[in-house]
Amino acid sequence: MSEGTPSRGFAPLNWVARRARSVYHCEISCDDDCFKPVPNRSGNEPFAAILNRRISRRSLVKATIAGAPLLALSTSPLGSQIFGSAPLTSSVGAASSTVGLESIPHDNEDAIKVSEGYGLNVIIRWGDAVLPGAPAFNLNGQTAEAAGKQFGFNCDYNGFFTMLPGQSNRGLLAVNHEYTSGVDMFPDYDSDAVNEEQVAIEIASHGMSIVEVSRAAGGSWSYDPASRLNRRITGDTPMTLTGPGANSIYTITDTDPTGTTVLGMLNNCSGGQTPWGTILTAEENFHQYFANAEGVRGADRYGVPTGASRRHWEDFVDRFDLSTDSNEVNRFGYLVEIDPYDPSFTPRKHSAMGRFKHEAATVTLSDDGRVVVYSGDDQRFDYIYKFVSSDRYNIFNRSANLDLLSHGTLYVGKFNDDGSGEWLPLTAGSGPLATWTNAGVATFTREAADAVGATPMDRPEDIEVNPVNHRVYIALTNNTRRTAEASVDEFGRANGINSANPRGPNAHGHILELTENGGDAASRRFTWDIFILCGDPANAEDNTYFAGFDQSELDSISSPDNLAIDGNGNLWIATDGQPSKLEQADSVYVVPTSGPERGRIRRFMTGVPRGELAGHVFTPDFETLFVSVQHPGEGDGLDEPSSTWPDGDFPRPSVIAAFKDGGGVLGT
Ligand code: FEO
Ligand code: CA
Ligand code: CA
Repeated sequence: MSEGTPSRGFAPLNWVARRARSVYHCEISCDDDCFKPVPNRSGNEPFAAILNRRISRRSLVKATIAGAPLLALSTSPLGSQIFGSAPLTSSVGAASSTVGLESIPHDNEDAIKVSEGYGLNVIIRWGDAVLPGAPAFNLNGQTAEAAGKQFGFNCDYNGFFTMLPGQSNRGLLAVNHEYTSGVDMFPDYDSDAVNEEQVAIEIASHGMSIVEVSRAAGGSWSYDPASRLNRRITGDTPMTLTGPGANSIYTITDTDPTGTTVLGMLNNCSGGQTPWGTILTAEENFHQYFANAEGVRGADRYGVPTGASRRHWEDFVDRFDLSTDSNEVNRFGYLVEIDPYDPSFTPRKHSAMGRFKHEAATVTLSDDGRVVVYSGDDQRFDYIYKFVSSDRYNIFNRSANLDLLSHGTLYVGKFNDDGSGEWLPLTAGSGPLATWTNAGVATFTREAADAVGATPMDRPEDIEVNPVNHRVYIALTNNTRRTAEASVDEFGRANGINSANPRGPNAHGHILELTENGGDAASRRFTWDIFILCGDPANAEDNTYFAGFDQSELDSISSPDNLAIDGNGNLWIATDGQPSKLEQADSVYVVPTSGPERGRIRRFMTGVPRGELAGHVFTPDFETLFVSVQHPGEGDGLDEPSSTWPDGDFPRPSVIAAFKDGGGVLGT
């Protein structure tokens, strides 16, 4: 089934080749890497040797999976999630995952398509009313006041929070609004003459929407604009900074001498859900909102502009001008906890989990009930982190759990060539961090991780824990600057290939599979394997690998970004970057992680021109997949957009639901 409208007169492939006028998420996070030629692949000899080593080890591990040991891995005594859509252990799953849907061909049409036998519907679009009093959306009459009550721009992460344990027909949908793109929002936008009202609208269009949603017979979903639980959080919403970075010399400002009250969250990309029913939402590319960072500590390492920002918010809002107060930028780049059930809850930015370009936050429990949060730092050659709380999750005391993420130990991943790995603690006052303070580690986390010798990765995106085999799946989206030869960059990071990042350049990205020692999420050591090396299996130069599955008839895939795992342990992968890499729209794929079809990838959903499919998440019964259609037609402006999805007039970032016709678990 397909949904959407025909494009307005563009040949299907034209939009792939057309260079966007302004693509914030490309220019800012990747310096337009996708639009540059991939460096030549001479010197790929080490790749084969490295991969062969990894594959032979993987075969041994595979033999273990077939037996019982993995099934005895960590199932926390507290590990049944009460709320939401991502159970810590599966009651649906089987040891050998299977997928029952047909792969669909790639395309570039202006419609969302899903596998035969599936349907979808649009739930909520940019500008739709979220709060009482929100006016109907008026593209030519936007105001900041209205935007603060309407569904924001560029939806990404979706969290589904049930009203009752295990309920799947009704709940709260929490949706990130990652960033704005003026050229795609305002018909009269001029990037060289941004006005104050446009800036205010953009700030109000960031953050998060929380809306109550329900499922109708037949599988489609709608939201209730009158629900008292609906909420908008914006780039101006007051938040509390917690943990060792709060109230420090790095976070106190003239307007906030306590160093604890921050206005707004920005660039919230993906996220996660805690066992006590709160959201963790991840501030990613926060650097782009600030200007004049000349001489500001960390400006180089975090890429904060030393001159004017491209958005020019600093022209109208002082706090974005770092020459006014350089500490303001240190109050962004965190995991933010929000209680979706309490519209009056003050969001908490938890500095104990570090300050970097957090892609997501994946929550699980250790064997002894401590909270473990995985989070990747999405930049070339940056790191994978793990936070372990000091205190234990208490299933009987929800309010006490709200403090768990303020105290704990932050680790960063080191991946050894032999398939082992270790989590290096970022502990101030010892080892390479002997002269550091706790506030310093919490604020300048990247520099602390550089100092302890973490492994530079190929842009860590989403991370998910498989509820069936308990392994941790990590998407590394791509890195065309990875070199086949050994090299070191200005921050001292090794940029040459290593066995966890074995392709230089890495145009298409890969997925790692990590097993914590003893199956305990709090373990200091782990083993790891390559699960998938993405690309076109028909192109030998891509050096693809799909967990050993016969590649002769497999689909192509590039740039894995968001991940979700169903109750059978199948991995659902959303991409971000396929148009420039494979000349096909970004898509959602599903792949078994065990059994005879382990590695057999199938394309389930295709997106629209310049649109990313993002933030996909299941309901607890796995009969609905919520997906954000982010930045359709991005960078084209509103005169001649390459996408007019979903309504045929102009592109509107929207959240959709996908479901099986007649009901049933997706993928079966
Ligand atoms: Fe916002 Fe790393 O994607
Ligand atoms: Ca992402
Ligand atoms: Ca992305």
